[in-house]
Amino acid sequence: MGKIIQKRVLIPKRVTEMTIKAPVIASKARPGNFVVLRLSMKGERIPLTIADADPEKGHIVIVYLIMGKTTALLDTMKEGDVILDLCGPLGRPTSIKKQGTVACVGGGTGIAALHHIAKGNFQAGNKVVSVIGARSKDLLLFKPELEKISHEVLVSTDDGSVGHKGVVTEVLEEYLDRDPDVKEVIGVGPVPMMRSVARVAQPYGIRTLVSLNSIMVDGIGMCGSCRVNVGGEIRFACVEGPEFEASQVDFDELMMRLQAFKSQEKESMELFEKKELL
Ligand SMILES: Cc1cc2nc3c(=O)[nH]c(=O)nc-3n(C[C@H](O)[C@H](O)[C@H](O)COP(=O)(O)OP(=O)(O)OC[C@H]3O[C@@H](n4cnc5c(N)ncnc54)[C@H](O)[C@@H]3O)c2cc1C
Ligand code: FES
Repeated sequence: MGKIIQKRVLIPKRVTEMTIKAPVIASKARPGNFVVLRLSMKGERIPLTIADADPEKGHIVIVYLIMGKTTALLDTMKEGDVILDLCGPLGRPTSIKKQGTVACVGGGTGIAALHHIAKGNFQAGNKVVSVIGARSKDLLLFKPELEKISHEVLVSTDDGSVGHKGVVTEVLEEYLDRDPDVKEVIGVGPVPMMRSVARVAQPYGIRTLVSLNSIMVDGIGMCGSCRVNVGGEIRFACVEGPEFEASQVDFDELMMRLQAFKSQEKESMELFEKKELL
């Protein structure tokens, strides 16, 4: 269970941040971990990244994009309400060591998920270059938060309303050209963006990780729903990931598996909108 301490609308009707009281999870959460939550006894379980954690206050922060029924239902909850089930921290934490410059690349809601990883690298003494992109200025998340824990924040927007006009990987490529000291690239965001991060970084021979958002149910390695193909092998993203070496990921298969429940998701959202399913 987790009481909602604070709810902050980041982008109206689209992205919300929640601070939740979860002392045990907060005390153990590391960058890269996620939680699986369930809102009702018959509700589905969904994974959300721990965007930040404060062990002293016993709080964790989640940031979610309203995608379908469960995130829409979560968004009806208010400060003081209690999330029925909150399981975590799950997943392997990001392996962080002091190594020099780390480029943290985030797209869309992935920027919020990237925050904890960038913070961990900053605290480890690395030079953090955050490279973030969104469709437009209004949709750009967490820039002020990243500025506090990055040595440089580079921005792109599709429409050019702020930063470079174009996609985030163009900015990454330009940075990799001018800084030969980058030791690691970490990408979090939509699948096409992570595929592009893999492609752009590969010629530089830099270790590059992406955080995969495969469908998860139990989050503890029992159900097999989070199967991903990495280097020709089946891996379970919940217990072996969610971060994997980018060049080894079969992004086509990931995309296909993410579409597997589209008709059920649509039906579930329609029933929710008619208030027939809560
Ligand atoms: C490790 C991990 C961390 C994630 N972190 C975040 C985060 O910090 N913020 C955020 O907004 N989203 C995050 N996601 C994605 C999030 O879990 C889905 O957006 C959410 O489950 C959608 O549920 P829904 O019922 O609202 O939408 P639905 O209509 O049910 O689904 C919409 C789409 O969301 C994805 N999805 C649906 N169910 C699941 C599931 N059980 N597991 C994974 N993906 C699913 C599928 O791509 C689906 O097509 C993460 C996913 C993973 C695997
Ligand atoms: S979510 Fe069930 S095995 Fe990974």
